[in-house]
Amino acid sequence: MRKKVIAGNWKMNMLPNETIEYIENFSKLVKDTKNEVILCVPYTDLFYALMSAQDTNVKIGAQNMHFEEKGAYTGEVSAQMLKAIGVEYVIIGHSERRQYFNETDETVNKKVKAAFENELKPIVCVGETLEQREAGETEKIITTQTKLALEGLTNEQVKNVIIAYEPIWAIGTGKTATSEDANNSIKAIRNEIKNIYGEDVSENVIIQYGGSVKSSNAKELFETSDIDGGLVGGASLKSDEFAKIVNV
Ligand code: 13P
Repeated sequence: MRKKVIAGNWKMNMLPNETIEYIENFSKLVKDTKNEVILCVPYTDLFYALMSAQDTNVKIGAQNMHFEEKGAYTGEVSAQMLKAIGVEYVIIGHSERRQYFNETDETVNKKVKAAFENELKPIVCVGETLEQREAGETEKIITTQTKLALEGLTNEQVKNVIIAYEPIWAIGTGKTATSEDANNSIKAIRNEIKNIYGEDVSENVIIQYGGSVKSSNAKELFETSDIDGGLVGGASLKSDEFAKIVNV
């Protein structure tokens, strides 16, 4: 059986002192969970988060990285750099990065490969816009994004990818996909993976749901057949609320 993986995405929020305080409280609240717990924090908080999360079951991730190992890319951070300080996970291709920072399926794929080369676990985001949903294109969009993100990976690597299905219209809007809808979209992604990589891979790959997840709707979402946890934005900014989601 697949385990549940619950990841918080703080986006561009939280200062180092807030990070330390948060993790001190949060790690106590989630210490007995069987779920995998990840906090994806801004670059400037990574070091503090890693220090604070030592000797706890809270894992630390970044929210982005560059696909090159090093070089003249002012302002960028590589997978090798993240790995060197002890980061274990990295979000790749979040819709906000696709929308505001020109991430494409091609750069997403390069980043996923670079993450694996440096033993980081990628959390790859896919999701449709409202217009695409209304045009009946959801399944086509999310299966294509998935296929292109994973192109060229080995079966073993795909087994270790975490995919986050985040319908863009549900992010930060308070609108959640119904658990049935979200589960069906995730089934479509799993089926695409089955068609390319086989059932052993598709039955093992973790696929999360993201988009206005909170403690009041998490249980219903996580109880479905195919949703293996969540990628949580706004509701992960308060340690008590996020702990409720983890412990749901
Ligand atoms: P919200 O939970 O704030 O809707 O954000 C979801 C998200 O984008 C997580 O990556």
